[in-house]
Amino acid sequence: MFEEEGAGVRLRRLRVSDSMRRLVNETDLQASRLIAPIFVRYGERVVEPVEAMPGVNRYSVDQLAGYVSRLQNAGIRTVLLFGIPESKDEQGSQAYASDGLVPRAIAEIKRTAPSVLVAADVCLCEYTSHGHCGVIKGGRVDNDLTLPLLARAAVEYARAGADIVGPSAMMDRQVGAIRSALDDSGHQETIVMSYSAKFASSFYGPFREAAGSTPSFGDRRTYQMSNANSREAMREIEEDIREGADVVMVKPALAYLDIIAKARARFNLPLAAYNVSGEYSMVKAASGHGWLDERTAAMEVLTSIRRAGADMIITYFAEQAANWLKETV
Ligand code: PBG
Repeated sequence: MFEEEGAGVRLRRLRVSDSMRRLVNETDLQASRLIAPIFVRYGERVVEPVEAMPGVNRYSVDQLAGYVSRLQNAGIRTVLLFGIPESKDEQGSQAYASDGLVPRAIAEIKRTAPSVLVAADVCLCEYTSHGHCGVIKGGRVDNDLTLPLLARAAVEYARAGADIVGPSAMMDRQVGAIRSALDDSGHQETIVMSYSAKFASSFYGPFREAAGSTPSFGDRRTYQMSNANSREAMREIEEDIREGADVVMVKPALAYLDIIAKARARFNLPLAAYNVSGEYSMVKAASGHGWLDERTAAMEVLTSIRRAGADMIITYFAEQAANWLKETV
């Protein structure tokens, strides 16, 4: 008999060794759940580092095969493409050009690594001269004029062979517009992974350097969500599910773990989380100074996103994390 109730309980028993700790771990990280973003740029034979994101490069199409095969060797099975075109215009026309960068990149990856799942981001911001995610009318981002352009881009990417399209413009009804355009063009099998709850965030800063997509006037707060809102995030997700999304996403991830957990509890669809550029650069910068241990910090971040409930994580750490996971089998 114990003198006091619970006196036999010792939680440290289950932490005694690495094997014991791993036996009782509640959350697993696997390379197959990580999605590697890739910046595809114009030009030939170019691998250009992104200054604000150490370890991340922009690749011209001819350099993709080598990079994707490296990712595959690490165990990564899914990539997410972003295009950085040579010329931008008011309408973002390079986003939906049939011979644009992203369709060419998709075809190249499908040709050289057919088993890799290819996702393509669908947005106008990398392609517009003003850097907004939609077209401008009367000084404002016009929702309904943008929808057909996003739908055209999604169809072009599907036609080029994309398995997944990821609308990230935060225009109302973009998922519905894209779903029906895909279905009408014979792409019923193409998956829509919607950036459903995408918050206006300072953590996108390094990405905007990488993609040259900083808005030339105003900001994105008339379409991306306020970081103060959680119930509204559930409404955004509900709406995307109603419009036919196959996978929903919360973005960013680290400062939004409560949103991920809430979405996980509430919805039964696969849930993605985007560990965005600024979240990557924070860890890189601090570890570069010797203020954090990069590997343990990065794995802690990724594990916390899984623990919160994400099924898949888009992360610039994908290749490194996959290699670390292999080392610890
Ligand atoms: C395009 C888009 C952005 C990101 C992904 N898709 C940029 C933005 O909204 O400004 C950011 C990704 C990142 O920071 O890693 N709309």
